[in-house]
Amino acid sequence: TRVALAFSGGLDTTVCVPLLEEEYGYDEVIGVTVDVGQPEEEFDEAEETAEALDLEHYVVDARAEFADQCLDSVRANAEYQGYPLGTALARPVIAEAILDVAKEHDCEGIAHGCTGKGNDQLRFEAVWRASDLEVIAPVRELGLTREWEMEYAAEKELPVEGGNEGVWSIDTNLWSRSIEGGNLENPNYVPPENIYEWTDAPGSETELVEIEFEEGYPVAVNGQEMEPLALIEQLNELAGAYGVGRTDMMEDRMLGLKVRENYEHPAATVLLTAHEALEGLVLTKEERDFKTTIDNEWAQKGYEGLVDAPLMDSLNAYIDDSQETVTGTVTVKLQGGQARPVARESEYAVYSESAASFNTETVDGIEQADATGVAKYHGFQSRLANEVANNVEKP
Ligand code: ARG
Ligand code: SIN
Repeated sequence: TRVALAFSGGLDTTVCVPLLEEEYGYDEVIGVTVDVGQPEEEFDEAEETAEALDLEHYVVDARAEFADQCLDSVRANAEYQGYPLGTALARPVIAEAILDVAKEHDCEGIAHGCTGKGNDQLRFEAVWRASDLEVIAPVRELGLTREWEMEYAAEKELPVEGGNEGVWSIDTNLWSRSIEGGNLENPNYVPPENIYEWTDAPGSETELVEIEFEEGYPVAVNGQEMEPLALIEQLNELAGAYGVGRTDMMEDRMLGLKVRENYEHPAATVLLTAHEALEGLVLTKEERDFKTTIDNEWAQKGYEGLVDAPLMDSLNAYIDDSQETVTGTVTVKLQGGQARPVARESEYAVYSESAASFNTETVDGIEQADATGVAKYHGFQSRLANEVANNVEKP
């Protein structure tokens, strides 16, 4: 019998390999690493560890698919409590890819090394439990701690580096890099500059970057058309140099635990900022207000890893419809850790310069003085309510 394991080569997933044989009775473990834009070293680590474990190991490239998913999230202005959902959106993509490999190789089980405290266990299993494979979570089910894992690994002479792993727990993909654990578990601990790898310390230099959108999708940077994957990679580099896209937050996880999280996500910040600025130009006020509700629901489902929820189809239907006019260009200024929209244009702009200008008398036959009636009525109900309240005798 065979079992497929989501494999990173880190401590958790490395100890899972012998445990799946010893504790769960599988004859053969297959390790699967899914590429969603992690740094090169992580694949080297996975490869080396797999070799040392004599583990059959597969790497699946899901970067293009994940990049599409990231850009879909831009159309939904998707953030959860200020975090652009990198880890969250990657999990269903990873889970599907592993499930495919598991089926291809006639596995009867499928396993991950997530703890019982986090979100990832829920996101993986939401996908896997739709199959008839046995879902296994050794770290959670056997109640493993890091200390126990280290001891077990030493005893079994497993190939784990006691090195820099363990200082922070890091999860990196195309859309965000998350840093948690260690001293960062104290919400009052100020993170040292060296937790950051994608973003330089914000300085005073500035740069303008022009993002072109077509129906809500970013398609070009500074006039150059690009595929989603390349576009995101380029913006991570470009905006990271200005310290753009750092988040230090208390995150309310699905199980109810508050966790102190640090993230860096330069491209996500630039694209989300630019996209919202363009919507501000082309959508009507009521469309913008309504879309905030839709966007919040989208982000919530995205955070939960439930991108397959039927509700998501409905939300996407509105988003598709709303994005028909979100075509145009936004100029974003990168400076001192910030990305601010500083210019925007679109042929769909719901904007009349002459109507809004202080220098024009009449527009469409409407004169300034026509607002007098509106001004007289404005606040009428509040004035009346306050007057009534003042006149009623207090007992
Ligand atoms: N809490 C975040 C999320 O649920 C990210 C966790 C990433 N994991 C890590 N070991 N840094 O999306
Ligand atoms: C874990 O607990 O395995 C990682 C963090 C998370 O899932 O949120």
